[in-house]
Amino acid sequence: MVSRVEHPAAGYKKIFETVEELNEPIPATITGVIPSWLGGSLLRMGPGQFEVGGEPLNHLFDGQALIHKFDLKNGEVTYYRRFVRTDAYVRAMTENRVVITEFGTAAYPDPCKNIFSRFFTYFKGIEVTDNCLVNIYPIGEDFYAVTETNYITKVDPDSLETLKKVDLCKYLSVNGVTAHPHTEADGTVYNIGNCFGKNMSLAYNIVKIPPAQGDESEPLEKSKVVVQIPSSERLKPSYIHSFGMTDNYFVFVEQPVKINLLKFLSAWSIRGASYMDCFESNDSMGVGWGCTGPLLFLHINTNNNRIFK
Ligand SMILES: [Fe+2]
Repeated sequence: MVSRVEHPAAGYKKIFETVEELNEPIPATITGVIPSWLGGSLLRMGPGQFEVGGEPLNHLFDGQALIHKFDLKNGEVTYYRRFVRTDAYVRAMTENRVVITEFGTAAYPDPCKNIFSRFFTYFKGIEVTDNCLVNIYPIGEDFYAVTETNYITKVDPDSLETLKKVDLCKYLSVNGVTAHPHTEADGTVYNIGNCFGKNMSLAYNIVKIPPAQGDESEPLEKSKVVVQIPSSERLKPSYIHSFGMTDNYFVFVEQPVKINLLKFLSAWSIRGASYMDCFESNDSMGVGWGCTGPLLFLHINTNNNRIFK
């Protein structure tokens, strides 16, 4: 008799399962003991819905943004989760189709439009997603759920309600920033993003967002670009997932994973293209340690003398 052997990685499919949001926090099952002095809330983002209108969202980065909250108090834990009401989510739910193109899933055209208006829809450009499923961090006294585009979404960390969609392009010269900023002890936020400037000039801009101002003003209004690093390649900026920061230095690695801007611009007019289709690898380009082709995802630790990755 042949016994079936479960592949150790078979459980990975679980991460693509759609879940329902909760109406109220539920008690968590605790294994072990949580010290009674440990209190507070842990917020985490992730994908929570992988189908719209019977069509799949193809990539782990495409599921609709779900915000999770664990509240710790007196050795007890409650768990709560809500979908963030992004435009990507609300419009997908309303129209029952993928309306905004995600990293690995192209939006479907509106079937109600006739062929001529569909044609002009393609050439008008596909909207940039605000599906903020990657991370959540504070700016000033507010919390923002983020992905890697120019849109961030302000949420209420207590109720998990969605408060406001913010376009970073209104405040900063960037086309998007990473989901992994650095925050100083006083609340100052540093981040980095691609900047597609005039005459197709390309650069990586490091931006600084000050801490809460102690008045009604928004820290984003006082944000600015503090360093600009030119791209070594015209029309092909490198993908940036994170950067390093020490007391004295920013550490930026221009790596071989490239965004092909010509593909990117033309892909907007071709049905079925997603962000992922515009990525390519420059196999002849090293990243400074004599190796070729790798992708540096996360800077884990950086100090003035040595860099760990
Ligand atoms: Fe990441």
